[in-house]
Amino acid sequence: MPKHILVAVAWPYANGPRHIGHVAGFGVPSDIFARYHRLKGNYVLMVSGTDEHGTPITIAADNEGLTPRQVVDRYNQVIGDDLYNLGLSYDTFTRTTTLNHYQVTQDVFRTLYEKGYIIRQETMGAFSATTGRTLPDRYIEGTCPICGYHEARGDQCDNCGHQLDPADLLNPRSKIDGQPPVFRETEHFFLDLPAFAERLRQWINKQEHWRPNVRSFSLNFIKELKPRPITRDLDWGVPIPLPEYEQRDDKRIYVWFDAVIGYLSASIEWANNRGTPEAWRDWWQNRQAQHFYFMGKDNIVFHTVIWPSQLMGVFSDGQYAGSAIGAFAEIPLQLPYNVVSSEFLTMEGKKFSSSRGVVIYVNDFLSRYDPDPLRYFLTIAGPENQDTDFTWSEFVRRNNDELVATWGNLVNRTLTNVYKNFAAVPTPGPLQPNDEALLAEVEGGFASCGELLEAARFKAALTETMRLAAQVNTYLSDQEPWKVLKQDRERGATIWYVALRCVANLRILLTPFLPFSCQQLHEYLGYEGYLAGPLNFQAYTEAHGMSHRVLTGDYESWVGTWAIADLPVGQALREPKPLFKKLDERVVAEELARMEEGRK
Ligand code: MF3
Ligand code: ZN
Repeated sequence: MPKHILVAVAWPYANGPRHIGHVAGFGVPSDIFARYHRLKGNYVLMVSGTDEHGTPITIAADNEGLTPRQVVDRYNQVIGDDLYNLGLSYDTFTRTTTLNHYQVTQDVFRTLYEKGYIIRQETMGAFSATTGRTLPDRYIEGTCPICGYHEARGDQCDNCGHQLDPADLLNPRSKIDGQPPVFRETEHFFLDLPAFAERLRQWINKQEHWRPNVRSFSLNFIKELKPRPITRDLDWGVPIPLPEYEQRDDKRIYVWFDAVIGYLSASIEWANNRGTPEAWRDWWQNRQAQHFYFMGKDNIVFHTVIWPSQLMGVFSDGQYAGSAIGAFAEIPLQLPYNVVSSEFLTMEGKKFSSSRGVVIYVNDFLSRYDPDPLRYFLTIAGPENQDTDFTWSEFVRRNNDELVATWGNLVNRTLTNVYKNFAAVPTPGPLQPNDEALLAEVEGGFASCGELLEAARFKAALTETMRLAAQVNTYLSDQEPWKVLKQDRERGATIWYVALRCVANLRILLTPFLPFSCQQLHEYLGYEGYLAGPLNFQAYTEAHGMSHRVLTGDYESWVGTWAIADLPVGQALREPKPLFKKLDERVVAEELARMEEGRK
């Protein structure tokens, strides 16, 4: 029975182009996982979009002299293009500024409020000493009470990363006029996390398949739960859906509260977009469905504590006040099955920083190198279990010594020899035990690599698959079919046939990791159709007549399946070309110089 798998990918902020550290965390791992499950024949729904609210956006707007709307429109396009070029096979990559997302977010808010899980509280708010108006968090800076950094913002310290409240800052001052703000009582809304503490504890305790750091971090976090503010003094965000607030432009729902709801709203959009408006329930209200979330480690608590509380609260007693998803509210929403979080990637030993020029953007990278070598590097040497460093010399070495020398070389010598000598899949003679043994070993990859992929152990899965490719190289070096062919055509043909079958199997085993080059290989081997199809963009028009662009793809007509490949004798090959480029050592110096240039 095929399973329903939700691949829920963290929503990148639409406040600038994405760098390779971002896509190492949420992007490449989630796509490997989704592609694997589709090849397995499971029903995959992979959703995400750009995260378009909150101070990350308003600050970018201030810096660029644009409105928040202009900023998100621009970077939604840029980021969508990057993800497309990397081959990240979303079923729906949308945005959080859609009508649908507003409705679903407001429904969730209203429901939690009516059930008493959202409470109102007077807190100290900051007001401008000169104008008396609300001073949004981002316009307040001061000294961080945790690390002592002097330019911490009202909502967050960029030095230590802690979330702050403007009232926490030491020596707070307005960024507009430098005056200390005046603090007065003002109302905010809080999610009553303590109400969920016991349920969360029991639930997280059971999640023994989570990565250990995710589970222990979360268990630790819930030891001291306090109600958490979910509104902010800001004019950019989803309006608070209560009559007295709807018309006000100084308070909005906090970005993190709405962004996680995106997983649900994007699933609903996907269902509407394909004309089956109820289809999202097959993932969200199906106890057998499994939900996998992918993100960087700074996002863990939002996915293991806050979002699960929202999900538990909304459907806890069968009453649902919302309009967009009202009807079947008695069925609870699925909680995360696994929360797959990555550690951080650094760049040449330094933290990524756009402002300091320590950065390589995805689009920049892909303008000079192909997507598969980047996907390869980020998987084999990425931050799956510990912080890791991207260096150009390591990138060039891995590309040349592993991707090109092992897999590329195997494909290249096999295909060019077979194409030249037979032009088609040769007819083998009887197979010898060592031929059978090699085939069995490679075919065993479907089980061994599959198991690792299901456990989200991507690095181990790729290592295992590359080991199999290396075995085939060893076999060829031992058997020397190019020599044998001259004396014994049948035996020569048999060895090439065995190698070709191994390559045809590895084509599938490597597709989740290297979809572009595996498609090329698929064609060289004489197969038709899309092994694991192309992506495309569609326009989605909503009830109010506005459209937005959605990254999606046709994954149903894929011809690839996660199973031993059929390679018919006599199938005509197409003229092969090398799958990968060897990189010149000079690349390292060039790229380092380019980075230096960017830092000036
Ligand atoms: N925008 C956040 C970031 O880039 C991630 C949001 S994930 C979501 O860190 F689930 F909340 F959408
Ligand atoms: Zn700090």
